[in-house]
Amino acid sequence: MASITIRNLDDATKEKLRLRAAAHGRSMEEEVRLLLGEMTHDVALSSPVSHLRSAPLFKGEGKKNPAQFLAGRDILLIIGGGIAAYKCLDLIRRLRERGAHVRPVLTKAAEEFVTPLSVGALAADKVFTELFSREDEHDIGHIRLSREADLIVVAPATADLMAKMANGLANDLASAVLMATDKPVLIAPAMNPRMWNHPATRRNRATLAKDGIWFVGPNSGEMAESGESGAGRMAEPLEIVAAIEKLLDRRPKPLSGKTIVMTSGPTHEPIDPVRYIANRSSGKQGHAIAAALAQLGATVHLVSGPVTIPDPEGVSVVHVESAREMRDAVEQLLPADAAVMVAAVADWRTANEAGEKIKKQPGETAPALQMVENPDILAGVGHNKQRPRLVVGFAAETQDLLANARKKLDNKGADWIVANDVSHTTGVMGGDRNAVRIVTRSGIEEWPDMSKEEVAERLAARIAAALRTIEV
Ligand code: CTP
Repeated sequence: MASITIRNLDDATKEKLRLRAAAHGRSMEEEVRLLLGEMTHDVALSSPVSHLRSAPLFKGEGKKNPAQFLAGRDILLIIGGGIAAYKCLDLIRRLRERGAHVRPVLTKAAEEFVTPLSVGALAADKVFTELFSREDEHDIGHIRLSREADLIVVAPATADLMAKMANGLANDLASAVLMATDKPVLIAPAMNPRMWNHPATRRNRATLAKDGIWFVGPNSGEMAESGESGAGRMAEPLEIVAAIEKLLDRRPKPLSGKTIVMTSGPTHEPIDPVRYIANRSSGKQGHAIAAALAQLGATVHLVSGPVTIPDPEGVSVVHVESAREMRDAVEQLLPADAAVMVAAVADWRTANEAGEKIKKQPGETAPALQMVENPDILAGVGHNKQRPRLVVGFAAETQDLLANARKKLDNKGADWIVANDVSHTTGVMGGDRNAVRIVTRSGIEEWPDMSKEEVAERLAARIAAALRTIEV
């Protein structure tokens, strides 16, 4: 029955189903079976198609026809030596069915997992393996390989390949091409979770990110080795395709040329060298907004408090701890076209930060913390002589949401306040969903409950529209 359903779906729905199944690591049939199973429990859903429309999709997916971006583009695919190399056969197919030309390079180790014959047959091109092949070097050397590509994709990017890239080694064809290129490079890491979390790989990850290398994945889940699970599974081929499309998307971006300053995450206010006052902000909403603005072409400078989530893609990030450090970093980043202040900044800090750890003395009463007010960063930006044309603040409230948001609009010199109810029962703080209202001087817009990514994309689009209007 499932296969009949898939065959009868229109192409756009089939594509969404394929992406959704890939994201969950399931076959399309399994995905349909689960969707149909869920439907019998969820009477609110009217048809599998409407369910697919509301299903979480890869960012940007569903808004564009993927075939448009890859037709005629040249992708140099470096296949590393990992068990996930077999997925590259499917990746090549997916890229070619979108009209891309794929030129494969195999490392020596990759040849242990996939054969040049199968890779070459799927790519319909010569497979390059040797740095010092007389024929290849004469015919098309590593410089030309990189020059003729629009994008280089490394999949799977093993721990070894990442280490080589981070350290500038060039002792085989793959690493020499990567050293010789000035083209964008996207890597899809794949390795055992212990290798992914090893301090050496962490260092290499940070170096590669600083060098401007793009990452897709890895995902978390079961490893090929039995009993192993965690972060390290290579992104699914369609996730890699979606990332490639994002990088090669040549459409004019609505926020190109615009600079946006942002804050996100909590602040930590030190009590002594080991203790601090913090709050529950995860940074998820602010970081998602930064990524969404960058996706629309903005140059985003994000000042982030201490968070455990990764830096958002395509954003320059300044890491700070305290409210005062955050304020200083934001001031340095002005002027800007817009400011979006999402951080949950601590309102107070301790008056006298102890230079040494405060010791517990037997018989003594607990120390009382003296607090002083922190600078209000949003108000500082809203009333600054270099005030951005659009200033957006957030209002995290547990009561009188709208009245408090309106007050903040005026007191802080903001144009919009994005108000959200952070009462414990809403699960907003630290959670993945948000229900916000946009409070402006001309009224209130109520948005339904949605994922933080969806809030981010919608807000980014609204900011792009506002900056266009303000410019006129
Ligand atoms: N904000 C800021 N600097 C502060 C306090 C808040 O920049 N010292 C910003 C936040 O980033 C947010 C907005 O002001 O955009 C509102 O933050 P919120 O914590 O809701 O309000 P507060 O001003 O702290 O007021 P209160 O805690 O009394 O609600």
